[in-house]
Amino acid sequence: MFSLGGIANSFTSSSLYYCDGNPYLMPVFHLVSLSTEFTYSVLSKINIGTSPRTRFDHYVLGYKKANKASTEEKFAIVTGANSGIGFETTKALALAGFHVIMACRNKESTEEAISKLELETGLKTFEFMQLDLSSFKSIDAFVDQYKKTHDKLHLLVNNAGVMMCPYSKTEDGIEMQFGTNHLGHFKLTNGLLDLIKDSERARIVVLSSMANYIGTFDKSLILEESKYNKMVNYGISKLCNIMFANELSRRLEGTGVTVNSLHPGAVNTNLARHLTGNDLKATEFLKSIVFISPTAGALTSIKVSLDPELEGVTGKYFSHEEEATPLGEALDEQKCKDLWEFSEELIKKHST
Ligand SMILES: NC(=O)c1ccc[n+]([C@@H]2O[C@H](COP(=O)([O-])OP(=O)(O)OC[C@H]3O[C@@H](n4cnc5c(N)ncnc54)[C@H](OP(=O)(O)O)[C@@H]3O)[C@@H](O)[C@H]2O)c1
Repeated sequence: MFSLGGIANSFTSSSLYYCDGNPYLMPVFHLVSLSTEFTYSVLSKINIGTSPRTRFDHYVLGYKKANKASTEEKFAIVTGANSGIGFETTKALALAGFHVIMACRNKESTEEAISKLELETGLKTFEFMQLDLSSFKSIDAFVDQYKKTHDKLHLLVNNAGVMMCPYSKTEDGIEMQFGTNHLGHFKLTNGLLDLIKDSERARIVVLSSMANYIGTFDKSLILEESKYNKMVNYGISKLCNIMFANELSRRLEGTGVTVNSLHPGAVNTNLARHLTGNDLKATEFLKSIVFISPTAGALTSIKVSLDPELEGVTGKYFSHEEEATPLGEALDEQKCKDLWEFSEELIKKHST
């Protein structure tokens, strides 16, 4: 059956096929992919077919049905779970039966989120654990603490993100968007990998963005402050999210662990907090009329985390709840390996 998301993805991937790598045609592709995204968002709001809430329930119930024979308690970590897409994802995972560790940097706002989640679900299966992805020390402390208190991890959702902030550096001296969105999650995932491998049919889900199409894996753009462009560097970090997921999926072949990445849609959340001036005005305007709700925006994360039909599916990129095509660089195995080595070197060099 054709879905709106499937049609939007086919449209984007066929235009990407003709434009990818051609500097003259890529601007045309960006125009096409943005128009497709916004058309999808507006049409999906009309609720042709099933509503976001119905699909949310469908994924939760589908998971519960497929796992009803299992008696083992399941553990999930969601980074950035206190806000936006992470909050809605956390709700779905708890309703599906997971004990959810909300890996967030702000205790107060996470406790508020937990009260809201408990009220909305009637469940008490939410746990706050402090994590600042822009600090190696915080990531190491999180991993140590998690391993002391839990011996399994069935699902890791690398959701937290920062977008288009003015140039700044992480605590360890790395450009903030790459450092938080990619490198922080790279270090976190690798730190937890032994537990993940020990947990039955575990999944790793990595939030990327359609902004991957404006990225390129160019080390100088990551390392040199004078080359910083807040939009391009956001795109680089989101391209690296997919490259990391793809390389990790290859490294985990045969372990039973799956790794997939996704674009959640253009979603009305707090992500635009760093925008100012005309960027902010344009985003506020689009948010009110075009962007989809956090519930709708969490559906791709929820599907990739829970759908029994995706059992064993790994190294794929999803958008609009369907498989999609990322930028060609994300599919270049050598470049993905280079990113892996570059990430390891950066961590080594910047660790005290
Ligand atoms: N919204 C969209 O249209 C859209 C489109 C494409 C992709 N995405 C991706 O979707 C993901 C979720 O974003 P969202 O839209 O739900 O935005 P959001 O509401 O702003 O949520 C982002 C979350 O990331 C957390 N975070 C930021 N920096 C962090 C750090 N250093 N350590 C730990 N947590 C940190 C934030 O924590 P605080 O609350 O403490 O700041 C917040 O919980 C992001 O990866 C984003 O790139 C979103």
